[in-house]
Amino acid sequence: MQQRFLRHDDTIIDIINDDYTILPLLSRFSIPLGVGNETIDDICRRNAIDVKALLLMLNYIRTGIIDSSYINVVSPLEVVKFLKNSHDYFINYKFAHIRKNLTAALELESNATNSIILNFFDTFIEKVKDHFKYEERKVFPYIEALLNGEKSTYSIDIFQRHHEEVGGALAELKNIILRYYRTTVPNLMYDVLVDIYNCEEDLASHSDIENNLLIPMVSDIERKFQQ
Ligand SMILES: [Fe+2]
Ligand SMILES: [Fe+2]
Repeated sequence: MQQRFLRHDDTIIDIINDDYTILPLLSRFSIPLGVGNETIDDICRRNAIDVKALLLMLNYIRTGIIDSSYINVVSPLEVVKFLKNSHDYFINYKFAHIRKNLTAALELESNATNSIILNFFDTFIEKVKDHFKYEERKVFPYIEALLNGEKSTYSIDIFQRHHEEVGGALAELKNIILRYYRTTVPNLMYDVLVDIYNCEEDLASHSDIENNLLIPMVSDIERKFQQ
């Protein structure tokens, strides 16, 4: 079913009840729990969150459609803020959480594939860390400098050409577990698989925001500055 566009007067609790998969996104916008009957507007005001940036990104992730009335009024710095929070969420929370459960699931029964699976996951984490590091050390500071009017030899199309998908390794890991991992106590591994599916989707929408929101926003600004 196609999701509808969220509006600033929707209450948070209704949105969550309607589609709980929005929860990890709310955490990355630094929206605390204890939302009472507050609307998106209320909560943004109380937590100093840019409501248009929040709606632009939430609606894009939910529907795949970019709201043209918001794209020109939201600062790319708001998108960068969300992406930085997301990097932190993946590295310090989500991957650590999956690794902990994966290790616990593997330890339940000795199996020839155990070390292969764990090594595969660790290699994936290292790759994603490098990917995030490049964005945080090169791309995001470039955008901040650009908005301060500073000149640079870097440009956003360098990032665009250089930007690879990182979630593919998770699809492979899922396949290894689904096809070859045998165990008599599968419950925890089933949980891990659900988390891996969620994480893969989350990483894909993270990339989509970088490719389809951030990059066009920044190249627009570059064009304006060149004129
Ligand atoms: Fe990123
Ligand atoms: Fe990225």
